[in-house]
Amino acid sequence: MSDPHDAHIAANRAMWDETAAIHERARFQALLDQIAAGGFSTLDETERAIFDRLGVARGLDVAQLCCNNARELLSLKLAGAGRCTGFDLSERFLDQGRRLASAAGVELELIAGSVYEIPRAFDGAFDVVYVTVGAIGWLPELDRFFAVVARLLRPGGALFMYEMHPCLDMLDPDKGFAIQHSYFRTEPYVGEGDPDYFDPSATVSARSYWFHHRLSQVIGGALRNGLALESFDEHAHDVSMVFAHLAPAGLLPLSYTLVARKAPAA
Ligand SMILES: C[S@@+](CC[C@H](N)C(=O)[O-])C[C@H]1O[C@@H](n2cnc3c(N)ncnc32)[C@H](O)[C@@H]1O
Repeated sequence: MSDPHDAHIAANRAMWDETAAIHERARFQALLDQIAAGGFSTLDETERAIFDRLGVARGLDVAQLCCNNARELLSLKLAGAGRCTGFDLSERFLDQGRRLASAAGVELELIAGSVYEIPRAFDGAFDVVYVTVGAIGWLPELDRFFAVVARLLRPGGALFMYEMHPCLDMLDPDKGFAIQHSYFRTEPYVGEGDPDYFDPSATVSARSYWFHHRLSQVIGGALRNGLALESFDEHAHDVSMVFAHLAPAGLLPLSYTLVARKAPAA
């Protein structure tokens, strides 16, 4: 039986492949230049503190879901992580990731496909599953996503999420703090012909579907899939690139971090 969300995911794949071509023109050379300059890292203070606590630099094996061009995964590899495996819907972004890894002289394993279809061969293979900024909104079913995270982790392994705060889904970037949408919205946001988030002079023509997930669905999804909450924080800083102008007012949480752990082996 076909998945009711197959059409959403197929549309999103086409949109991300189109976006990959825009980002390749807009920023790929800059990433290569940063790698050539040495000391490449995309990790901010918040991420570094959590990765230090998790001990990633001691050679832990990491999977990143929705890894895009793998620049964040590459940062972890360069910081001392062990096996680094990235999963993403867009083969075009993964192709960029392979070229970035090669420029940095390290090995990343990059696998194309939907998160929901990650092969069973990866079950129990990772100490850390990492998910960042603008990832879960592309995933129609959050409980199914946490079930995948739980099967990828080794016993005792940890999920680290660093995401946009869901209250941002209530706003329009051009309309300040004026609430435009219900926090309890269930239908997806449909994008089409929007400006690209890295290169606003470029238009992304393909239609796409973004799914709002409430914080209770995030935390509940982790708990329902056997991941115990280890830490959860809300931050005043923006990670989305489109709501940074709201940060100085300090009125709303703009991002959050969550660490949840799979039970150790009995
Ligand atoms: C905004 S990026 C977020 C990733 C990363 N933090 C970044 O900033 O580049 C979203 C990524 O999710 C991927 N994606 C969307 N739906 C997906 C799915 N069903 N399975 C796997 N990856 C998906 C897209 O291809 C895209 O590369």
